[in-house]
Amino acid sequence: MADIMKTERLLLFPSSPRLAPAVAAYFVRNREFLRPFEPIREKSFFTVQGQRRLLRQEERDMAVGSGYRFWMIPKAPPAAVIGSVALVNVVRGSFQGAAVSYRADKDHVNSGYVTEALARLVAFAFRTLGLHRLEANIMPRNKPSLRVVEKLGFSREGLARAYLNINGVWEDHVQMAIINAAFPGRVGSTTKPWCPTGTNRSSAPASTP
Ligand SMILES: CC(C)(COP(=O)(O)OP(=O)(O)OC[C@H]1O[C@@H](n2cnc3c(N)ncnc32)[C@H](O)[C@@H]1OP(=O)(O)O)[C@@H](O)C(=O)NCCC(=O)NCCS
Repeated sequence: MADIMKTERLLLFPSSPRLAPAVAAYFVRNREFLRPFEPIREKSFFTVQGQRRLLRQEERDMAVGSGYRFWMIPKAPPAAVIGSVALVNVVRGSFQGAAVSYRADKDHVNSGYVTEALARLVAFAFRTLGLHRLEANIMPRNKPSLRVVEKLGFSREGLARAYLNINGVWEDHVQMAIINAAFPGRVGSTTKPWCPTGTNRSSAPASTP
């Protein structure tokens, strides 16, 4: 089970059914903002009961190590969920990787919040979970999202055609990825572990799609 994580301005709460009222309120507030970037949602998705079910499932996912979602709440009041960051499809064996997923609040975009939270999530994935590779799959038109992972040192690997069903359409996605250079078997004299300040770009050069 994951603990609450802290960044400079945020508390990152792992999914728990206790968060259902705050998470449902977040999705109701951001329904139209998120629609062009997410799968089509059932009506129940926007209810406290529906979110309680999903959060309980995510708590189980964390217990078995297959996924980790954290909800962003600013340290400064008023206390409200303003987004989430997550590791999804965590696969071990010879892959040792996951995909990242994230979303902000329409009233807090371009404040650096998602970059701040995602930097902490990458550190958690590499240093706590010991993963080797993280992927971010992003629609080419989603420039803010591409910019977020670019700032963290992800690099472009290619275009995955009709990769995810977003708002009812199979959309192409740019595949961005970052490698944990400190993973056993990858450590070399010129490689350094990933660090969230963005100062260590040598092992994972950023690229602008
Ligand atoms: C993408 C998203 C998560 C970014 O969240 P955020 O908290 O605003 O992100 P940050 O403030 O940390 O960074 C955003 C960056 O994008 C830049 N940006 C914003 N609009 C842009 C545009 N049209 N073109 C290029 N860059 C843009 C910002 O200037 C900022 O970069 P900077 O720090 O270099 O100035 C948010 O817009 C969102 O929730 N979108 C809807 C859901 C979504 O797209 N999720 C990701 C799916 S892959």
